[in-house]
Formats: sequence, structure tokens, C-alpha cells
Amino acid sequence: MKQQLEQIRQSTLDALAKVKDLNDLEEIRVRVLSKKGELTAILKQMGKLSAEERPVMGQLANNVRSDVEEMLEKKAQELRSAALEARLQEEALDVTIPGKPVEIGHKHPMNKALDEIKEIFIGMGFSVVEGPEIELAEYNFTRLNTEEGHPARDRSDTFYFTDDDSVLLRTQTSPMQIRVMEQMKPPIRIIAPGRVFRKDEVDATHSPMFHQIEGLAVDVGITMSDLKGALELFAKQLYGQDAVIRFRPHHFPFTEPSCEVDVQCFECHGAGCRTCKGEGWIELLGAGMVHPKVLAGCGIDPEVYSGFAFGIGLERAAMRRFCIPDMRLVYENDVRFLTQF
Ligand code: DAH
Repeated sequence: MKQQLEQIRQSTLDALAKVKDLNDLEEIRVRVLSKKGELTAILKQMGKLSAEERPVMGQLANNVRSDVEEMLEKKAQELRSAALEARLQEEALDVTIPGKPVEIGHKHPMNKALDEIKEIFIGMGFSVVEGPEIELAEYNFTRLNTEEGHPARDRSDTFYFTDDDSVLLRTQTSPMQIRVMEQMKPPIRIIAPGRVFRKDEVDATHSPMFHQIEGLAVDVGITMSDLKGALELFAKQLYGQDAVIRFRPHHFPFTEPSCEVDVQCFECHGAGCRTCKGEGWIELLGAGMVHPKVLAGCGIDPEVYSGFAFGIGLERAAMRRFCIPDMRLVYENDVRFLTQF
């Protein structure tokens, strides 16, 4: 019997050497220690022993049992810590590897220019308003002193929605003058930025969709010199103190007198080049003194009040501001272009 017990201890030890995981370990435990196990089977034979042998064998059997239990527990701990070690290895993070840069976007140059322009006019006491892109011909033309039959209303220039040409995509932000004068009493100082639409072919300076910023100031005693002063200040704040602008007489139906304002070409500084089509100047905006008929049509007495208005082409202003030679770059969303700003 003593031999058998020693045999169990030894075979357990041998078996443990081959154990790979906790399942193998459990198999050994069942084989040796369970009720139907090898050790129990031997203990059942104790009754056959003499009274002297019995306590000695009992003692030995207990020793073997606790040795086996101890061996199993030790092995179990080894397996658990090996498993933990393996998992830690597998899940290890190298915190010293440089991260992947997150590319965050930034404002489009047009929006940058728009923000700057807004700031400039807000600084002069103007507030910013917005209005509809789908507009009534009445606001886009008629009430801006542009009667039916006027060439500006031509179907070849304007996107109309209805057969009677009464609803359209606004061709200018000027209808905002009417919408504002309907709602507000003087003193009025607003700018109204937004999209406008015309049937133009795409080229370096044209697009069927572009942006304007309308401006309107109405009060007692407003004169052309207020207009000139405001626009001069605007140009110098946007382009720098050395920016050169010029006022040219022009005609718009809703202003009298009217003018166009050009800024000296950023490419050639007035000499003439491809960007300015050899002119040396780039047209920046239309402006003028609000026509008395337009004021009166909005219930504002032209004998008491006067006003100036202007419409800035945002693309042109932004192109001059950031030295962008071709308007198509502004719309193509090529990141190689956009990341330069
Ligand atoms: N709406 C004009 C255009 O699109 C620009 C313009 C000219 C706006 C004179 C004005 C203005 O407010 O007074 O060509």
C-alpha cells in the first residue's frame, strides 16, 4: 500500500509536468482526489490492514493527499499568472509611438473674407441680416425701380421658376434693401450677405452662383461723401492702408447717382495682366444713393431721408484679399488649394 501511495504522488508529479491548461489540471484532480479517484480507492482498502499499520498508512495517505493538493494549487497559480502575462503582452500599448495627426478643417477663404467684412461693417455700426434666395420678381426688380421690359429681367440672364416670371432665384442681394425698409424705420444700417444666381458661363471671374454683400444706410442727411468714406474705410481695413480704390460713374436703376468701385489689381498693381484682363483694376462693388422712388415705395419720405447702398461681390473681394487668381479655385474644394489658407 505504501508503494501505491508513493506511486500516486510520483504519477501526479509526472502528469503535472505535461499540464497545459486548467482543464488538464482539473482532469488530474478528478482522477486522483475525487470520490472515485485513485487515492480514495486505496483508502477503501485500509480496513484490511492491521491495527498497527492502519495509523501509519493513514498518516501517509493524508500526507500524499495534501502534497497532491498543494502541487495542484501551485500549478494552478502558475497557469493563471502565465495566462495573465500572455494577455498583458498581447494587449500592450506602446505609448511612445507618435499618434496619427487628426486633420481638423478650417474656414474656407470665402468665409474668412466674409467674416472680416462683417467685422468691418459691424465696427461702423451696421448689423447683419439675411433673406431668401428664392425671391419675388417684385422685390428683385420692380420695387428696385426695374420695371417689366428692362433688359436686366431678361430670361437669358435670370433663373425663373414660373411661366409668368414672378418667382426667381435672386440675381442680386439688393431685394434685401426693400425687405429691410419694409420692416425697419430709419436710422437703418444693415449689411445682407448671401448667394445670388445668374445664367453666366463659368470662367476665371464668373460663376452662375456667387455671393454678394448688400449694404444699406438710411438716415437724415446722408450724402455721397458718407458712402465714399464708408467704402474707403472698408477697402483699407480689408486690404491694408495702401490699398487703392477708385470710383467710376455708372448706372443702376435703384440708385441715383450711381457708381462702381474698383480696387487696384493685386497681381500687376495697375499695369494690366490676365487677372484684371489688362485693366489694372478689378471691379469690386456697385453703389450709389438710394433712388427717391425706391425710398418712397417703402414708405420712407425722400424729402426727409436719404441713404446710400452698395453691393459687394464677395468672390472678387476674397480673391483680392487672398491673391487668388481664378474664381474656379474658390468652388472646386481642392484641398491642395484650401490648405493654403
Ligand atoms: N445689385 C447690383 C448688382 O448686382 C450691385 C449694386 C449696385 C448694389 C448699386 C447696390 C447698389 O446696393 O447701390 O450689380
